Amino acid sequence: MSQLPAIRVERLAKRYDDIRAVDGISFEVRQGEIYGLLGPNGAGKTTTLSMLAGLLRPDGGRILYDGLDFAADPKKIKAGIGVVPQETAVYQDLSALENLRFWGGLYGLTGARLSAACTSMLDKVGLTPRAKDPVKTYSGGMKRRLNLALGLIHDPKVILLDEPTVGIDPQARLNILDVVREVAARGTAVLYTTHYLEEAEGLCNRIGILDHGELLAEGTLAELETMVGEGEVVTVTGRFDVDDISMHIGRLEGIRVLSADGQKLVIATEAPEALRGREGQRRSRGLELLETVLGGDFQIDSVSIRPPSLNGLFLKLTGRELRD
Ligand SMILES: Nc1ncnc2c1ncn2[C@@H]1O[C@H](COP(=O)(O)OP(=O)(O)OP(=O)(O)O)[C@@H](O)[C@H]1O
Ligand SMILES: [Mg+2]
Repeated sequence: MSQLPAIRVERLAKRYDDIRAVDGISFEVRQGEIYGLLGPNGAGKTTTLSMLAGLLRPDGGRILYDGLDFAADPKKIKAGIGVVPQETAVYQDLSALENLRFWGGLYGLTGARLSAACTSMLDKVGLTPRAKDPVKTYSGGMKRRLNLALGLIHDPKVILLDEPTVGIDPQARLNILDVVREVAARGTAVLYTTHYLEEAEGLCNRIGILDHGELLAEGTLAELETMVGEGEVVTVTGRFDVDDISMHIGRLEGIRVLSADGQKLVIATEAPEALRGREGQRRSRGLELLETVLGGDFQIDSVSIRPPSLNGLFLKLTGRELRD
């Protein structure tokens, strides 16, 4: 295997008038690795992926595949990349088999190799029984699975997937995730964009958190969880006076208010040592905080205390929930 990272992105940038859709991001994806680009709507995921796929010209920075500058030989490099776009790019009047034959042909597959690739892909994504039916008769999940098969038909060394599981049933989702894992296990580098935390947590070897075109944090799940500071995230809804509650909370150490308005408070607890009580038992800092808050004159409708998670990290970095 090559020592060079399969994908290397250096200070990549793209603007749309005043919007910095991608604002100078850098990251690497190695062979056999699933790298998750996690971010909310408008974060810049599709813009990044489109530049990596050669569908959109960057304003700045470079993209290297196996150490080779994409701009130097885009045609040759593109032949080794598989793209699974956010919008399905299938011909509705053709069958799955005909779509696969068409795409495989575009990638230069012919004869027995093309037929074998089509059979194998149909089997992988579980579409063999419907292979000859027109795509317009498929469910959304089936179209998504075909979309994935089209991106993989030529056995690419790198695959770029843009939110491939949005809006589909759990079975189709599991199939897609299985195929992605299998492809990576064979040494393919996978760039996987998503706004699902659970997907990034369960699927990806490394994760980059993208927001407003910037990479805010990056690492393995364990590394990212450490960045949360091993604290909890406490969300309180109800009715409060922001100044009053800030004064109350201000008495506690290792507590940071991430966002506060009259109806919702989001607080991060830090300082993990402080979590241990007198007998050395783990003491929830979130509960301690709650006891303090309850001592004030507030109406509390709901409280949730969450252990460290990617959502907690996103909150800490941006003051917003990724789940919204
Ligand atoms: N063709 C375009 N013209 C103008 N602005 C654009 C265009 N494409 C994207 N943008 C803007 O660039 C930013 C990033 O968009 P992008 O589609 O890359 O986000 P995304 O992370 O893929 O979001 P989503 O989760 O909704 O797919 C957004 O602010 C978007 O409005
Ligand atoms: Mg997108």
